[in-house]
Amino acid sequence: MKTLVVCNQKGGVGKSAVSTLLTHYLAHKGHRVLAIDLDHQGNLTTPLVQSGRLAVAGITSDALMTGPLAALPDRPQVLVPSGRALLGLERQPAQHTPLARQFRDFLAKVDRSFDVCIVDTNPNPDIRVISALASADFALSPIQLNQEAMDGVAGLLNHERVGLRKIKAVLNPKLTLIGLLPTLVEPTPYQRANFVQVVQRYHALLIRLGAGPGAFASIPRRSCIAEAQSEGAVLWEMKKTAARDTWHEIEPSLARIAAFVNGTKTVLEANHATAP
Ligand SMILES: Nc1ncnc2c1ncn2[C@@H]1O[C@H](COP(=O)(O)OP(=O)(O)O)[C@@H](O)[C@H]1O
Ligand SMILES: [Mg+2]
Repeated sequence: MKTLVVCNQKGGVGKSAVSTLLTHYLAHKGHRVLAIDLDHQGNLTTPLVQSGRLAVAGITSDALMTGPLAALPDRPQVLVPSGRALLGLERQPAQHTPLARQFRDFLAKVDRSFDVCIVDTNPNPDIRVISALASADFALSPIQLNQEAMDGVAGLLNHERVGLRKIKAVLNPKLTLIGLLPTLVEPTPYQRANFVQVVQRYHALLIRLGAGPGAFASIPRRSCIAEAQSEGAVLWEMKKTAARDTWHEIEPSLARIAAFVNGTKTVLEANHATAP
C-alpha cells in the first residue's frame, strides 16, 4: 500500500475536493483504496458516505492514533470517517509520539489489504498532520493562486513542525512530495500573473503533464466540482455536460498523480532538493 497525504496549512484550497476526486478515480481504476479523513470538519467523509461507494469503518479516524488497532471492513474500498475526538488529540502533548507510532502501526497492519491510502488533512499544523506525514510515502499540496496562498508555499516546505522538508529530514526520509497542485484556478489576469510567478519560483515542485511551457497539473474552479462535493456525486457520472467536460479537463492531472502513487512514475527528487 502506498500512502498519499493531501496537505496544506491553508483551509479552503481544495484539499478535500481533490482527496474525494482521487479516491473515486483510483477506485474506478480498480485499485483497492483506503480513504482516511483526519479533518474534524469531515469534508472528505460527507461526500464519500453520500456516494455510497465505500464501506464505512465502524470507528472514526482518531481511533487510528489512539488504538487499539481496529479491524476494517473486509472490502476493497473503505472510508475511515472523521470524528469530533480528532480535536482532542493535539491537547495531549505527552501522547504525541505514541499517537504517531500507533498510526504508523495501523498503516503497517492494513498494508496488504489496500493498494493506495488517501489521507485528507486538517489545515492546522498539529499532531494529526505530523502523524500522517511521518508515515506517508507521498504528499500532495493543493495551492490557490492568490498571494496569501503562494506566500504559504514556503511554510508548506519549511514550517518548523509540519514543513515537508522538516518531516522528511527528521521523521520520514521516504516521504516524497509529488508536488504543488494549483486548484480553484480561474482564467483571470491576476491568477495568470500568479501562475507565472509560481512557475518561476517553484517549477520544480509543479507536476509536469508534458513538455509544453504551461503543461502542469491543475484543477480549475468549476461549479460542478463543488456540486459533486455537496451532493456526494461522482463527477464523471453526473448528468450535466459541464460535469463531463470538467472531467475531461482534470483527468490528465488526476491520472498523473495516480501514476506517481502507483509507482509507475518516479518523482525526480533531485529537482525538489534545489527548489527554494
Ligand atoms: N475545483 C473546484 N471548483 C469549484 N469549487 C471547488 C473546487 N475545489 C473545491 N471547491 C469548493 O471549495 C470549497 C473548499 O474546498 P475544500 O476542498 O473543502 O478545501 P479544503 O479541504 O482545502 O479546506 C468547498 O466548498 C468545495 O466544494
Ligand atoms: Mg478539507
